[in-house]
Amino acid sequence: MTTVEPNEPWTHAHPVRIFAGNGALERLPDVAAADRILLVCSGGSVRRGIAARIMSLLGESRVLVYDRVVPNPQLDVLDAAAESLRVEPIDAIIAIGGGSVLDTGKVLSALMPSNRPNGLDRIFRHGEDQVLDKRIPLVAIPTTSGTGAEMTPFATIWDRQTNRKHSLAGDVMYPEAAILDPSLTLDLPREVTLYTGLDAVSHAMESLWNKNRTPVSEAFAAQALKWIHGAFGGVLDNPDSLEYRAGMQWASALAGLAISQTRTAIAHAMSYPLTLRYDVPHGLACGFALPAIWEHSRNIDPGTLETPEIRRTMELLERLDLIGELRNYLDPANLFVIILPEVSTADRAGNYIGGMDREILEGIMRRLNVGR
Ligand SMILES: [Fe+2]
Repeated sequence: MTTVEPNEPWTHAHPVRIFAGNGALERLPDVAAADRILLVCSGGSVRRGIAARIMSLLGESRVLVYDRVVPNPQLDVLDAAAESLRVEPIDAIIAIGGGSVLDTGKVLSALMPSNRPNGLDRIFRHGEDQVLDKRIPLVAIPTTSGTGAEMTPFATIWDRQTNRKHSLAGDVMYPEAAILDPSLTLDLPREVTLYTGLDAVSHAMESLWNKNRTPVSEAFAAQALKWIHGAFGGVLDNPDSLEYRAGMQWASALAGLAISQTRTAIAHAMSYPLTLRYDVPHGLACGFALPAIWEHSRNIDPGTLETPEIRRTMELLERLDLIGELRNYLDPANLFVIILPEVSTADRAGNYIGGMDREILEGIMRRLNVGR
């Protein structure tokens, strides 16, 4: 198998305007020129002074703060937030934080202009058609490097009531602009740097071993892996290096650009039950199996997947002992039983170029050497 054949049809479009570089946050007043702005962030961002910095850049009187974002945003919480904020005259939303904050900003930007209460409940629990066709312009400012959410047209929504994970997707979900300022990622603790970095690696790999890949998504993913190869090991050893931080931030954005075209695949399908049922952090959940999936995929498409950058990145992941990290959350011997129902559905797992069934999953588990 080669990359996309010249006679195969494909398209590419991407609407997010990027403002990048150290100090890029200072350009926020030009990027968000609206009169009434909703700032979406976590309580941690308020305590660390990030919210205050945004307000001093924009002028406090223009900014309404929603700081109740928690990891893995819940369906009911998002519906309730949209309901209470819908009455506010908001012209623009700024979301600054990690993936959960950016996803919350995206969901609010699409739900708030709608007049239908409980929009997510209607769509995901009652099967109503998704009629979110307006949005409040969103500026996404990542403070972690991995999610790529600032580049993608989807947001992940978690529903503990039904024990399911949903994806709200569509062009209306694209941020209008993304600000990539690596200095915002300098304070990340090692665990967050590691897990979010694994998410970036996952996105790049998932878009390469993906049936929906295009020449453009491949170029983004391959470039993301070059940056990851140059910066991931370095940033774990030298967290204060702005150069490595910038490399990972750019890699994350490139991988986000790649999956915005392809969506994710088998590694993400495998991750969701681990996060829903065992609270495994997203990046670890979709990262621990990458070397084993790679062993399978590179035989199918060595031309795309057998590059020096990928080989060395997979070797780095092996050295990081991610199965050992996983033991903090569950017994890896149970992985097969937990994951099997997910890979049997056509959703994300169906994007994998190698196909996916019980036998392939058994092979991945054998390579992981976790007792099955
Ligand atoms: Fe991810």
